[in-house]
Amino acid sequence: MKRLGIYWLLQTLVVSALHTNILEPRGHTQTVPSKPFSGNVNANTISKHGNLDGPQLSAVNDSSYEWWYFDAVSTDRLSSITIVFYTALASGFGFIDPTPDVTVVGIDFLFPNGTTNSIMLKADEAVITTVGQGASAVFENAGAKWTGTFDLSSYAVEIDAPESGVVGTFHLKSLAPAHYACGKAQAGQRMMVAPNVGWSNAIPDAAGEVDFEVNGEKFQFNGSAYHDHNWGAHPFQDAIIFEHWGRGRLGNYSIVWSTVSSAPDGRGYRTIYVATNGHILTASCSDKSFSLAPLYTNRTASSKGTLAGYALEVKLDSGDALSIQVHIQQVAVDAAPVYVRWIGSVIGQLNGGEVIRDGVALFEEFDLSGLQ
Ligand SMILES: *[C@@H]1O[C@H](CO)[C@@H](O)[C@H](O)[C@H]1NC(C)=O
Ligand SMILES: *[C@@H]1O[C@H](CO)[C@@H](O)[C@H](O)[C@H]1NC(C)=O
Ligand SMILES: *[C@@H]1O[C@H](CO)[C@@H](O)[C@H](O)[C@H]1NC(C)=O
Ligand SMILES: *[C@@H]1O[C@H](CO)[C@@H](O)[C@H](O)[C@H]1NC(C)=O
Ligand SMILES: *[C@@H]1O[C@H](CO)[C@@H](O)[C@H](O)[C@H]1NC(C)=O
Repeated sequence: MKRLGIYWLLQTLVVSALHTNILEPRGHTQTVPSKPFSGNVNANTISKHGNLDGPQLSAVNDSSYEWWYFDAVSTDRLSSITIVFYTALASGFGFIDPTPDVTVVGIDFLFPNGTTNSIMLKADEAVITTVGQGASAVFENAGAKWTGTFDLSSYAVEIDAPESGVVGTFHLKSLAPAHYACGKAQAGQRMMVAPNVGWSNAIPDAAGEVDFEVNGEKFQFNGSAYHDHNWGAHPFQDAIIFEHWGRGRLGNYSIVWSTVSSAPDGRGYRTIYVATNGHILTASCSDKSFSLAPLYTNRTASSKGTLAGYALEVKLDSGDALSIQVHIQQVAVDAAPVYVRWIGSVIGQLNGGEVIRDGVALFEEFDLSGLQ
């Protein structure tokens, strides 16, 4: 009896130590008030052992920006949702509605008939808790929160804003390991995709389940989901001239890409990520890692034609070549010429082999060249 008791006690201590200290480190909570901080803000630029999805700014002032982005595209490529939790003013990120509140949540819906709808929720403050690599947040009195696991395996976003006509839950179950712009999710990585643009990609691809009611109508679908996080101490609109970002799933491949032309000199930066069956095949910011070219239809000698999508040629770490074509199917957000977000289909081939036709993508472009 006594020996069993001690054994049981030891085992309990070891198990609880593993759970609280090693496997699931203790959380750290940061409260972001809705009024901006008046002072200098520091932005993290090099990754640590944990904190991939935690706040990366020391505070939020009127020139900084930070946001946590979630999206899902339905398997039939007819519907999408994006939910972004901001801690920024329009002076830091010029694409949100100008409000005096730093803590706001933007939600964009694309319905199967092609109609779009957007809402913005204002919070009194954001309480953000970081545990291990993951983070959770409550945007107080906005009816908006997300909950993440310490190992980034699953997240849930919950919206309870009946006065704005939106109530629902969005679950993400990760299918692809996290990463930074130039490599794996480990300490010592550069976290900048371009100067003043921090980026961590907690969930490059996930099984997504979207279950919402919007203005009294059901908005429900399953599909490919995604979550990342951006930040900078200086205004986003001063950091870039042009940005193209996209992500998709082709068969078993999860793909994330971006190219940035940074301000003021137009210097180019790029990042590519491909994973399959839970393993990273490449995660690189090398110039030679991939190429991206727009595709046009109805192109003639005198006209550029209509933008139809993009072609990517990716060189995997193994030396294999993955060719991907993304075709625009629907416009999810249209703020052309400055910003457009699309959803589309994806087809591709590995080393020119069998064509894989089963794919979805979501991609966007910021073109600030007219503003600078
Ligand atoms: C906010 O922080 C940035 C970066 O440290 C600094 O350049 C800027 O002047 C700060 N803004 C205010 C209002 O203090
Ligand atoms: C499109 O779908 C939405 C959501 O179901 C609906 O509210 C809207 O009336 C539809 N629009 C048209 C033009 O059918
Ligand atoms: C999504 O998948 C879940 C689990 O497989 C299922 O219970 C649910 O009905 C699906 N939802 C839709 C809209 O297909
Ligand atoms: C995709 O993954 C599944 C499950 O791991 C596997 O059975 C299947 O062979 C894979 N297909 C391809 C084309 O790699
Ligand atoms: C391409 O041209 C054809 C024939 O003029 C036209 O019907 C079609 O709508 C055009 N497609 C696009 C995407 O502009």
